[in-house]
Amino acid sequence: MPLDVVPLGPDRLRDILDVDLWAFPSPVPVEEQLDWPTPLPWGRTYGIEDSTHPGRLAAFHASYPFGQTPVPGARLPVAGLTWVCVHPQWRRQGLLRAMIRSHFTHCLERGEAVSMLFAAEPAIYGRFGYGLAARQVMLTVPRGAPLRPVDASGLSVRIEHFDETQHGALVTQLHAGVDRPGWVTRSGEAHQRSFLSETPQRKGEYETLRILVVERDAQPVGYALFRRRFAWGPAGPAGSVRVVEVVAEDPAVAHVVWSHLLDLDLTTEVLTPNLATDDPLLSMLVDVRSAQARTQDNLWVRLVDVAAALAGRRYRTDLDVVIEVADSVLPDNAGRWHVRASAGGVPEVSRTDRGPDLALDVRELGAAYLGGVSLVELAGAGLVTEVTAGTLAPAATAFGWHRAPVASWIF
Ligand SMILES: CC(C)(COP(=O)(O)OP(=O)(O)OC[C@H]1O[C@@H](n2cnc3c(N)ncnc32)[C@H](O)[C@@H]1OP(=O)(O)O)[C@@H](O)C(=O)NCCC(=O)NCCS
Repeated sequence: MPLDVVPLGPDRLRDILDVDLWAFPSPVPVEEQLDWPTPLPWGRTYGIEDSTHPGRLAAFHASYPFGQTPVPGARLPVAGLTWVCVHPQWRRQGLLRAMIRSHFTHCLERGEAVSMLFAAEPAIYGRFGYGLAARQVMLTVPRGAPLRPVDASGLSVRIEHFDETQHGALVTQLHAGVDRPGWVTRSGEAHQRSFLSETPQRKGEYETLRILVVERDAQPVGYALFRRRFAWGPAGPAGSVRVVEVVAEDPAVAHVVWSHLLDLDLTTEVLTPNLATDDPLLSMLVDVRSAQARTQDNLWVRLVDVAAALAGRRYRTDLDVVIEVADSVLPDNAGRWHVRASAGGVPEVSRTDRGPDLALDVRELGAAYLGGVSLVELAGAGLVTEVTAGTLAPAATAFGWHRAPVASWIF
């Protein structure tokens, strides 16, 4: 079957949702989902037609325009690859490969040097040059878990039904103010509306969305979006609190947010959202072991234009290194790149004939890009080669960052 990737507009929403439900089965039929707010970015949604049934889609994908995404020391336009769906009848016939190639072409045309994604299955995207760049921690914290004290004087708390008119701007503004690598913000109003919507997928057995707002001098300085589920067990109340997202401007705010969430009546546990591996909650908990932690892959990063991407971030220490990059999918990236930077300064990246110091696949460069996965760690797994002795450790320090990367929500 021809694998031409074509643009899709809103007139194809029904077909798109049908393929989505083939890829991600759901009990909610297309007819019902047509009424939900859609975050699909028109103009950035593409598909492959089913040539055996004219007018029917076989596959599609989209990419969100994450315009101001924090990377170490800077902000960059990033393409957030999403909604990757292939009808089961057409799987393993190269449709995903064709869509990824098309996605990279569009990224380059739009000047997006970096693409990021959440993987439905971690084994899918490495072959296309995406590296695991951020890990997340998810905790199940028992109700009442003690926190180490932080002076939280001067803060007040409001706990309310979430209402877009009242709270939408506050959430958007506080979320966009976070400066942590990988912290993507919703790509626009439609996207935000969809994220905060009350669809059965988002709600499950939980109540409608609630918000806890923390204020200082009548100004919002943090929030938690959450839902509770009521349950009654043999020992009495057994409800849980599912936290959707937390933003806290400083330690006192974080302390107030978590103290309130950990002390809601008729609940026994708090399920955290995606937390960075250096989230303050991990240090505040007196008994971190009681907070049953699970780690999981968070963001996967692809350097679509290696030179622009390496020049688009900052480095923690002075750096002068030649990196030999292999890239079988985008050969323009392959070869030796000389990266020079002073700590925190604007880097210079150029092609060079100089002998390499380090050699790696573009996938590993994507993994190290947000500063959360060390080149030394990757070398320890045999994925980075130190060609010139003594160059790996300084390069790993320079590529590192003082805050661990994470995206607070799954796109
Ligand atoms: C995952 C999915 C998109 C793959 O699409 P596809 O058209 O079958 O993939 P392709 O035929 O282009 O395969 C390309 C390569 O990826 C591999 N691959 C595809 N899906 C894979 C998976 N789930 N796990 C591991 N490898 C996978 C193929 O084996 C092939 O490898 P190779 O070329 O190196 O031999 C499709 O099966 C699907 O829609 N699944 C359900 C929804 C989903 O998981 N979407 C991903 C959202 S992040």
